[in-house]
Amino acid sequence: MPVMRFERFESPAANQAVHLGDIVRAFSYALDLTEGQPAGHCVRSCWIGCNIGKALGLTPVELSDLYYALLLKDLGCSSNAARICELYDADDRAFKRGFKTVGTSLAATLVFVARNTAPRQPLHRRPAAIGNILRNGVAIVDEMILSRCTRGSDIAHTLGFSRAVQRGIYHLDEHWDGSGRPQHLQGERIPLIARIALLAQVADVFHTHAGRDASIAEITRRAHTWFDPKLVETFLSIAKDANLWEQLESPFLDTRISAFLPADQIRVVDDDYLDAIATAFGQVIDAKSPYTANHSTRVGGLAMRVADAMNVPESRRRGLYRAALLHDVGKLGVSNAILDKPGPLNDREWEEMRSHANHTFEILDRIGPLHEMAAIAAGHHERLDGRGYPFGLSDESIRRETRIITVCDFYDALSSARPYREALDPVEALVIMGEAVGSAIDPDCFEALRSLHQ
Ligand SMILES: [Fe+2]
Ligand SMILES: [Fe+2]
Repeated sequence: MPVMRFERFESPAANQAVHLGDIVRAFSYALDLTEGQPAGHCVRSCWIGCNIGKALGLTPVELSDLYYALLLKDLGCSSNAARICELYDADDRAFKRGFKTVGTSLAATLVFVARNTAPRQPLHRRPAAIGNILRNGVAIVDEMILSRCTRGSDIAHTLGFSRAVQRGIYHLDEHWDGSGRPQHLQGERIPLIARIALLAQVADVFHTHAGRDASIAEITRRAHTWFDPKLVETFLSIAKDANLWEQLESPFLDTRISAFLPADQIRVVDDDYLDAIATAFGQVIDAKSPYTANHSTRVGGLAMRVADAMNVPESRRRGLYRAALLHDVGKLGVSNAILDKPGPLNDREWEEMRSHANHTFEILDRIGPLHEMAAIAAGHHERLDGRGYPFGLSDESIRRETRIITVCDFYDALSSARPYREALDPVEALVIMGEAVGSAIDPDCFEALRSLHQ
């Protein structure tokens, strides 16, 4: 078993208090990717929703719950991506984004579905796909929304958020007139946090898509049907303040929304909690595609076993574990039409697939305590010969932690089924990896991985 010194590891960052609100806000950018929304959608929704909450005179505890529910409202969304892609035979992210800008009438919905179902298929094949939706669409959408709501609120529960936050996420898609999902709740039976969150979400989507007037018009139009009319009144009164809209464009909005967390509601998180939130987001990533179910979790576990075999110092283990869990967080920004494609990717698709490493860097780089691990996690497709991505690093500039994640990722990919091939057994996987030693993967890390199978 190789014994390695890790003199190239940097010392851990100085201990600084890490606030839960800041961590959740930074992770919300990953959820925007899943929904195909422009970066900052959750943060902007949080700004609009918390302004409504403040105007309503919510208590500090209620305002804090609203803040977290708005930032985490899409926590379960990755679970329906593959299903949307399959049902509509379309790019799930583009479909989700476009669908949110459609009016509420049945005619508008049907026109959108007809135009956006199987858009890449020849004309003669599209009626079959649309017919399937007309026959089975309602039941399938019911199931998808239930799965999204349940998954999102379950993760919020696991992370210790209050029941009010969990219910806000679970009931996000309920409508004031009872036409929503998952439980067709009506009027004030819908939790107030969910009512505010849906309104804030729609306000941001239309503002980003078509501007302030369009946003106000859409919220007004949906009063009594989707939205609580009293909340619409509150929204219309705060919408007169130009600052509400100007701040949506501000590069300092992240800081502005922090002010909504009352001082007595600020929570400092410890290392165990950071591990838990990295684990939870690893599960969000893994839910995106049936072909990568549990991939992040397995790579995290395997990285720790390889770290043991290589005597990685204890002080580096936690960072490595989190980086391994989150190495593919950028895949939330890749369409399932590509992730689950049962054949070779064309140039454009391959480019989008490779972009996941850049997205991983951008997301983790925002997260204070994970900032140092951003490049380490994002580099898992780098190669020793410099032909990897996203940075095209060469041998000496690839960190050892990255090399560990790379071998674990490679091994898990080979030993899992893919849309275009069966899973390989461990011996076959190690033989294939052996051919890449020295050119793509690090020999010492490979030996450590191999030692686990002897
Ligand atoms: Fe990857
Ligand atoms: Fe991976």
